[in-house]
Formats: sequence, C-alpha cells, structure tokens
Amino acid sequence: MSNIQDKLDARRAQARIGGGQDRIDKQHAKGKLTARERLELLLDPGSFEEFDMFVQHRATDFGMEKSHIAGDGVVTGWGTINGRKVFVFAQDFTVYGGSLSETQAKKICKIQDMAMRNGAPIIGLADSGGARIQEGVASLAGYTDVFKNNIRASGVVPQISVIMGPSAGGAVYSPALTDFIFMVRDSSYMFLTGPDVLKTVTNEIVTAEELGGAKTHTTKSSVADGAFDNDMEAINQIRRLFDFLPLSNTSGSPERPFFDAHDRMDTSLDTIVPDNPNLPYDIKELVLKLADESDFFEIQPEFAKNIITGFMRMEGKTVGVVANQPLVLAGCLDSDASRKAARFVRFCDCFSIPILTLVDVPGFLPGTSQEFGGVIKHGAKLLYAYGEASVPLVTVITRKAYGGAYCVMAPKHLGGDINYAWPSAQIAVMGAKGAVEILHRKDLSDADKTAAHVADYEEKFLSPFRAAERGFIDEVIKPQSTRKRVARAFAMLAEKEIAKPWKKHGNLPL
Ligand code: HXC
Repeated sequence: MSNIQDKLDARRAQARIGGGQDRIDKQHAKGKLTARERLELLLDPGSFEEFDMFVQHRATDFGMEKSHIAGDGVVTGWGTINGRKVFVFAQDFTVYGGSLSETQAKKICKIQDMAMRNGAPIIGLADSGGARIQEGVASLAGYTDVFKNNIRASGVVPQISVIMGPSAGGAVYSPALTDFIFMVRDSSYMFLTGPDVLKTVTNEIVTAEELGGAKTHTTKSSVADGAFDNDMEAINQIRRLFDFLPLSNTSGSPERPFFDAHDRMDTSLDTIVPDNPNLPYDIKELVLKLADESDFFEIQPEFAKNIITGFMRMEGKTVGVVANQPLVLAGCLDSDASRKAARFVRFCDCFSIPILTLVDVPGFLPGTSQEFGGVIKHGAKLLYAYGEASVPLVTVITRKAYGGAYCVMAPKHLGGDINYAWPSAQIAVMGAKGAVEILHRKDLSDADKTAAHVADYEEKFLSPFRAAERGFIDEVIKPQSTRKRVARAFAMLAEKEIAKPWKKHGNLPL
C-alpha cells in the first residue's frame, strides 16, 4: 500500500511539473504564470479538486508515441471563489505549447458537461499554440466538440475566458462563444490568421500585438471585454467579476451583505445635470453614487464609450447597468454602442439579472459611416434585446430622451417596468432648434419669431410632464432620491413574471 501511495505521489509530482522546469522558467521569463499557479490564485486556497491529471494523448505520428506528458497540456477541475462553486480549465503552455489534442479537448468537454449538470460557471484560462499540429483532424474535431459545448452551455451557466498567452486560428472561437473575454496586456493575443500569413496574402506588415493584442481587441474590435496589466491583476479582477454573477440560469442573482442604506439621499445629484442642456456631465458619477458602496464592475470600458455597461449591487443584489454617457459623442447611440449594450442586456436577461437603464441620449448618431455600417440593424439589436428581456427593467431619464433613442432605451412601451424621470428630463422627438427649423422653416429669417417658437416648443415638450401626463413616466422624481426609488422598484419587481407566446426562438437581427 505504501508503495503504491509513493507511486501516486511520484506520478502527481511528475504531472505537476508539466513540460519541465526549463519550460516553466521560460514561461516566468515572459512575465507569465504557469497554469497551476494561475488556478491557485483564482480559486480559494485549498479548494481546487483536479480531474484527469494523468490523461495522456494517444497520437502516434511524428514521434509522438515516444513523448507523453501527464495532463496533456491542460489542467482541469473545480473549486470555489469566495465559497461559490466554479469549474475551471487552464491550458499549460509548458506542455506542447498548450496545444489542443483530442484528449485535451475531452478534458475540457468533461468540465463543460459537469458545469452544466451541476449549475456553476466555467472559467477557461487560454494559453495555447492552437490545434496540436501532430494530430491533424483529430484536434480539429476536438475543437469543434468544445465549441458545440460552449454553445450548449450558453445561457445555462456563465462562461468566462481569460486569454493569457497566444490564442490563434480557429481556436479563438471557443472564447468568442463565451460570455466574456478578458486579456492580459503585452502577453496575450488573438487572431484568426497571424502576421506571417498576412504578410504573404495581403502584404500587410503588423506585429502580433498590433494585430490581436489587448489594446486592439478592447478598443477597436470589441472582441475582448477588458484588459489587465498582468496575470495577477487579471485573476484578481475575474474573482471580483465572479462575485457579481449568478451561478446558473436557475440560481438567481447572488446576494451578499451590504453596508449602504438603500434610502441614502444624495443631494449632489440635484446639480449633476448642468443648467445648459448642451453641456456634458459624467454619467459614471451617477452610477457610482447609486451603487452599493460605489462598487461597479465595468464591461468594455474602452469601447463605445458613449454607452456604459457593467454590474453594480443594490441592497446586496446584482444589477446590470446600461447608461448613455453624455461625455462622449454627447451620449448619442451609434452602431458600436448599440451592439455593446445589446449583448450586455442579453447576458443579464439570460441569467435573471435586473437591469437599470440611465437615459440621456440626443438620438442616433447621424452620418454616412453609420448608415453604411448598418446602424439600422445594430440599433435593432438593442431594441430587440430590451424588448425580449423579461428581467425587471427600471429606467431613469436624467435629461434627453429624443426620437428613436427614446424608443430603444427601455421605455415602458418596450417592457420597461418602472420609468422614472428627473425634472430635468426632456422627452421629445428632437431638440427645440431642430424641431423649429422643420416646423417653422418660413419664419427662420426672423430671429424674434424663431426665438418665440423655440421657447414655445421648449415649454411644451422639453420637460418630463407631457410623458408623465400620459403615464409613460411613472413618476417624476427628485435626483437626490434616485437610489431609494430605484432600490424600492427593484425590490417590488423581485417576483416579476411575464408570459410570452410560444416560439422556438426569435430571429435576433444579427
Ligand atoms: C504542437 C506546438 C504548437 C502546436 C506550439 N507548440 N504550438 N506543438 N502544436 N500548435 C510547441 C512548440 O513545438 C514548442 O515545443 C512549444 O510548444 C513552445 O512553442 P515555441 O514556438 O517555442 O514558443 P513561442 O516562441 O513562444 O511561440 C509560440 C507560438 C508558436 C507563437 C504559439 O509556437 C506557434 O506559432 N505555434 C503554432 C501556432 C499555429 O499555427 N497553430 C495552429 C493554428 S490553426 P518545445 O518542445 O520546443 O517546447 C488552429 C486551427 C484550429 O489552431 C481550428 C479549430 C476549428
């Protein structure tokens, strides 16, 4: 018995060293942690239960039959983050460059299946040279099995990908099918075809970092939802995000103790909107003042900054926030902002996270680049996402809610449960100047008449009262009381249920 236990210890020690000390040193020299070090930081101390530590590949070509490394380039299992269950896999770059073999894929699929069966999120830490070249189509088949499982798990359990090294070729599609992708600056990249191929095929000369680094994917492509400076910071922030997320689509939003009164008044909000309606202000200040303990985890902070998305808590429960940002493009909606917010709303709705929408939007951004880029279809995504959402929806109009953008930003007509407006709200088809230019074109040469028309329009339409008179606004509220009103609204809506007509699924304007 002791002999076999010694053997077990020896085999475990062998597996734990992965591709060997030299390759571990190389990994460290690049500023990267190893797969096991990453999992140790991600999970609560002592909580990791590893599976398939001794699994080996079965390839026999290219001399592979003579080379076997226990675990086959991925460390898998489950553990806890702040006491809550999570399934994990971390590719081990020290073993065949973390490349995906048939058996590595089976290990990942096992974790995905267990996560779905047991109702807990999946976090994948990617660091891989892609398909195991020696295995050919067996590796491609393995990838596709993982993709199919990503799709099955979508909307069942949250899936988070953290790119902590290379992720190239079709391999990028597993992260792309998950709910969130985070990257590490300067040590991770994602692309379908690498710089060498680009040079040959399109004559473009770019570095891997330029083509698919964290900056590219968080500011240009929006493939990634956030970037962090190093492995440690990335893992700490993933732990923070995890605390906001439900475990599954049946578990409901997580709740945790809070130390911030729900009826906390904030008189500074009474002056946050400038008197001049053309001056901007920072909507993030409002978000932070509404959130429990000012804790806000922003999703895609560097992309489409004219809209803000992220998670906060109210009375300890997670709430998704979508807010127009007047500081950028005056808060106009455009294609990028619509796509960003639509995907966020879809995530919240999948996992029963209530949504708070803060509205200050002068309309959709005009221009040929927007029209040619399909803003009609992208705007429709946001409309569809809100219109289909069945989670509690609370909307606060702080200032402008003009035109089509009013219709999109979770009004009552689209299913918004409670719509509040501040006294500074202006709910209209458009601003006064634009309206007068159309309605009173023949009077425009007369400055006095024009001024009178503008004043008349402002008096009639640029207030929340016309909408409140029709019941489209449930109540005009004082800014200082917003946290209390919103918190009470969500508390009232906690058991919300709505019936939907039967359908297989709708046809989201993709
Ligand atoms: C097998 C691989 C591998 C792979 C790397 N290695 N990629 N082994 N299959 N795909 C091995 C190397 O042989 C090496 O082994 C070790 O991993 C480390 O690799 P290095 O090249 O020394 O590391 P580095 O210089 O950091 O370069 C990393 C790299 C490079 C940029 C990822 O290895 C690379 O270009 N690899 C190939 C990438 C690729 O083309 N993959 C296929 C993409 S297509 P030793 O024994 O020396 O330590 C794809 C299709 C998926 O993935 C389709 C899904 C539908």
